[in-house]
Formats: sequence, C-alpha cells, structure tokens
Amino acid sequence: MPESRMPPRKLHIKSYGCQMNVYDAQRMADTLAPEGYVETASAEGADLVILNTCHIREKASEKVYSELGRLRAAKEQAARDGRGMNIVVAGCVAQAEGEEIIRRAPVVDVVVGPQSYHHLPQLLARAKTCGRALETEFPVADKFGFLPQPSRQAIRARGISAFVTVQEGCDKFCTFCVVPYTRGAEASRPVAKVIDDVRRLADNGVREITLIGQNVNAYHGEGSDGRPWPFGKLLYRLAGIPGIVRLRYSTSHPRDVEDTLIDAHRDLDALMPFVHLPVQSGSDRILAAMNRRHTADDYRRVIDRFRDARPDIAFSSDFIVGFPGEAEEDFAATLALVGQIGYAAAYSFKYSPRPGTPAADMQETVSTADMDQRLVQLQNLIDSQQSAFNRTALGRTIDVLFDRPGRKPGQIVGRTPYLQPAHVEASDAIIGQVLPVTVASLERYSLFGTLASQPASGEPSNHAATGGAQFQTTAGV
Ligand code: 5AD
Ligand code: SF4
Repeated sequence: MPESRMPPRKLHIKSYGCQMNVYDAQRMADTLAPEGYVETASAEGADLVILNTCHIREKASEKVYSELGRLRAAKEQAARDGRGMNIVVAGCVAQAEGEEIIRRAPVVDVVVGPQSYHHLPQLLARAKTCGRALETEFPVADKFGFLPQPSRQAIRARGISAFVTVQEGCDKFCTFCVVPYTRGAEASRPVAKVIDDVRRLADNGVREITLIGQNVNAYHGEGSDGRPWPFGKLLYRLAGIPGIVRLRYSTSHPRDVEDTLIDAHRDLDALMPFVHLPVQSGSDRILAAMNRRHTADDYRRVIDRFRDARPDIAFSSDFIVGFPGEAEEDFAATLALVGQIGYAAAYSFKYSPRPGTPAADMQETVSTADMDQRLVQLQNLIDSQQSAFNRTALGRTIDVLFDRPGRKPGQIVGRTPYLQPAHVEASDAIIGQVLPVTVASLERYSLFGTLASQPASGEPSNHAATGGAQFQTTAGV
C-alpha cells in the first residue's frame, strides 16, 4: 500500500519537565507527521509511544524505568492483538543514560537525545531492521538546521500561544545542573530563522510567543548585518511582526542581562512585564559553591535595573534548598532575599545530586528533615507573596489575552500579563483578543471579572481553542 493511503498511525508522547520538552514534543510530532503519525491522548492502542524525559530534578531515571515497566505490559498486549507497538525514550534521560536504557530495558526500540529528533523516522526504520537504535551524539552541524515546520493545522490546533526556541544548551556549568551535559554547549539560532518562525505562527493566528531556551538571554544569533545580535535586539525586531501582541521569554540568567534587554522592557508594549529570573540561593557562599558567578547583591541590582525601566514588572525565580554546605544562616539569607525582592511566583526544590555534576561529589550536609523544613518555610513565604501579588489585581482593570473556553458554559479564560488565569462570561469570539478586564474576585490563583470594553467585532477566531501557554520553567538557569 502506498504511504499516503496507509491508515494513520497513532502516536502518544508523554512529556515530563520543562517547557523545552513541551516544545520538543511538538517538534517530534511535526517530524513524524509526514510518516502518517497522528497524536493520540493515551498509550493504549498507540503504535508508537515516546517518553520525553526530563533529568533536571528528582529520581528521573527511576521514573522512566517504572513507566517502561507499565509500557511493557501494553506492548505485550499489542503483540497478542497482532499489532506492533514501538517505544522510544527521548529527552535528557535518554541523552544521559542511553546505553544503560538499551541494556536494562529490552522493551525500548529507540533511544534518542534532544539533538537528534529530526532523525526519528530513520531511527525507527533502523530499529525495524536491526532490533534497536540509539542516537545520543551532539551533531557537529547546526543544531537547529533541521527543525521541522509545523503544518498550518498543527499550529491552529495548538492555540494562540506558541513557543519558539531561540537558543539551546548552556555554558554556565552551575555545579548542580545537568543541562550543560545533556543539552550541550550554548548555541543560538540565526535571527532570520526566528523571524521566519514567528511570522509563520502569526500568519496562522498565533498572538503570543514565548521565546525559549535554557538561557535565552545568552542569545547571540547571527543578525541581518552578519553580526551576533543580543537578545534585546531580537525582541525589538520580533515586536514589529504584525499579529504578535505579546512576547515572553524563559529562562534567563542574572549574569546575562545586558542593557538592550532592559531597554526592550522600557520600550516594547508587547514585551510582558513578567520575568523568570532564577537566583537559586540568597547566600553568597552557596552561590559561589553553585558556581553561579554572581552575588545576591548583583542579583538585587539586576532586579533594580528592570524595575527602573518598567515599574510594573514582576518576577518569578527558582530556588534550591539544602545544597551541600547550606547552613542555617545561608538559608536565612535566601529568605531575606525573597523578602526584599517580593516575587509574584517562584519554584523551590530540594537539592538532589545529579550524577556527573560537580556537586554530586560534594559532601551532602543537610539532613532530609532539615531540607523538608526549609522547603516548607520557603514555599510558605513565596505563597504569601504570590497571594499578596494576586490581591493587588482586585478592583483593577487588566489586559487579558483570551485563549480558551472555560470549564463552565459561557466562560472564557485568558491570561493577564503576569500569567494569572482570568475568567469572564463572554462569547468565544473574543478568543485571540486582548481585552481589558475589571477584576472582581480571586479564587486561589485565578481571577474572575467582567469585560471593561466590548470586543472588536467581525474577526471571528480561527482556533479550535486549546489550552494556552502553561507557565513552566525551562530547565535550568
Ligand atoms: N537539585 C535540585 N534542583 C535542581 N534544579 C536544577 N538542578 C537541580 C538539582 N540538582 C532546579 C534549579 C533550576 C530548575 C529548573 O531546577 O532551580 O533553575
Ligand atoms: Fe545553565 Fe541554568 Fe543549568 Fe546553570 S542552572 S548550568 S545557567 S541551565
């Protein structure tokens, strides 16, 4: 039977971890679409299951092996039903432990690292003839040269918010972090390619772009003048693309905040005043042991530069508690820093050693009980700051980009500039529009209100309204 007449094959991708992985899952689906694969929500009955793994925290590889145990049963059932099921392990665990996965989990057909997703069809073909296939090399050629273009249909089905990768990898080598090993050296996409992607998305109804990478503000892609452009300059260029009403980026590093980025926050209405700027710790001693190459004061100064340029800016951050050597006074310095900055949101994690990183060789000094207690204390403080921040929205009129129907009939949901979900009663014709909402009430993290002005008429939405951008951190930074 010719390929084009074959029935669609079912593809199920299970993604863990950061938004880079959500984006990579889309890239894999786009790569496999020409092979006749159509995404399905469940592993049951799928012809191909991809585990898109994350190695950044927690017991990542154990989770993968237990998931593979469950998939083995599904694969055996598929064989009894006379169908085949291929299993692929992708993502950072694949990159870090490829050989080991092949050895320990015979159920796996293909192991593929994040730099090789464009080879998935060939790897699947190789697995068919050779039994298994593994590719975890960092290619010497352009990391981004082979990004598949999503179809119009795929863009529309994914909603009005889209991620665009601008850089990958990291050269910072924080001592706790696997990213420099799993995602490799920092590399930036040329400006023209990013512009092409954003234009294409905008032409197909995307209104909000989140530029992603492990350290986006280390961006130095080649510009139209043949020189490396700083990240801020890229933002100015993208803000001029018709149809793009909101720009965001994640994740950024405090050491790479150069002046054009600050200027962009001052000048560009489309650039949302909400920045994820991880600091990890408030103690200079721990920051040094983490090889962050900045002090707590340096971080405070960076925050001040943003705030001077854009007074309504808000921040989120990542924190690690219980890093080796973290004494009570180091943790107190973290709490003090959080108190001084005042976050709109933040993520905090218990330190866990990642094999192969320098910190994994350091003596762990903080007991599990102390780590738990510090985590709770930090999360309580962050929660209270987040609630206080959300309360400041009450009674105010805030711009909301509407992206999907709510759970209740007649309800439409969007996001404020600070990614707070905001609900109104309205027609779904407002999906894709930015409209002012007067906020009347707050329920946990969600805002409820009424439209403060009538929507523009005559521009029906062309979207099958799916979920909007999820605020997750990009692994690292
Ligand atoms: N242990 C705990 N948290 C970690 N992170 C990265 N590596 C580790 C680790 N070994 C956290 C950092 C980073 C976020 C994505 O994950 O806070 O910013
Ligand atoms: Fe790079 Fe961030 Fe990991 Fe540090 S934490 S090595 S900056 S990705």
